[in-house]
Amino acid sequence: MKILYVGDVMAEMGMQAVEAVLPSLIKTEGIDFVVAQAENVTDGKGMGPEDMQRLQGAGVQAFSGGNHTPHLSVLTSFLEDTAQPVVGPANMVECPGPGYKLVETAKGRVLVVSMLGSIVGKQADVEVENPLKKIDEILANVPRDSYVASVVNLHGDFSSEKVVFGHYLDGRVSVVVGDHWHVPTADAQVLVGGTAHMTDVGMCGSLDSSLGVTFDSIIPRWRDGCQTRNHLETSGRLQFNALLVDIDESNGRAVAVQHIRRVWERS
Ligand SMILES: [Fe+2]
Ligand SMILES: [Fe+2]
Repeated sequence: MKILYVGDVMAEMGMQAVEAVLPSLIKTEGIDFVVAQAENVTDGKGMGPEDMQRLQGAGVQAFSGGNHTPHLSVLTSFLEDTAQPVVGPANMVECPGPGYKLVETAKGRVLVVSMLGSIVGKQADVEVENPLKKIDEILANVPRDSYVASVVNLHGDFSSEKVVFGHYLDGRVSVVVGDHWHVPTADAQVLVGGTAHMTDVGMCGSLDSSLGVTFDSIIPRWRDGCQTRNHLETSGRLQFNALLVDIDESNGRAVAVQHIRRVWERS
């Protein structure tokens, strides 16, 4: 089966990027299951139900989470409901829900898990359980014969953690994919044990910006110490970043992996 993991969908421009690329990509690549990082969907923080439906309309079937996932409380019931295909980080103490879901697909059920790195952005005070111990706990609790493939997301800042997490899970899950940077790394690979890995997949949304935020709101703050608010970029080029993984569902192992990146001018 083919699984596509779409990087952080950053606000309106992110949704436009997904709508422009995903429907045709699903058809041309024969993709069976699409997971998207949803922590930035609604105005950059969290995801509301209407935007969730909009992305589902474009072909997204499940949603991973990050440090911004708990921002909109309207998502709480979705995170807690095991029938809703949306997770927040399993080891982020303040985030509702179990942090993993089994999601039905035409090729069988897929386990989707999100995990936060030890330190994410400025939020060093966020209470985070050890990601290695937490994923061991989840994999021990969910029977292996209840799913055909597994996608584990590590949302974190340290490249070292994101690399180690992939090797720690090599041979035990189908995909380990990092995000939160909004900038892709050039290291997509199938590890020796059969797990597809990429340190950071990148984002969907504005290309000509600081990770989706206008340069005009960042540079005066950085250079001159001005008190500025973050404004989302709404013009310029778009980018789409995702990880495409081909998985042998008879054993859950990845057989091929490819980073997909598209950049284009809006018409
Ligand atoms: Fe993000
Ligand atoms: Fe993040």
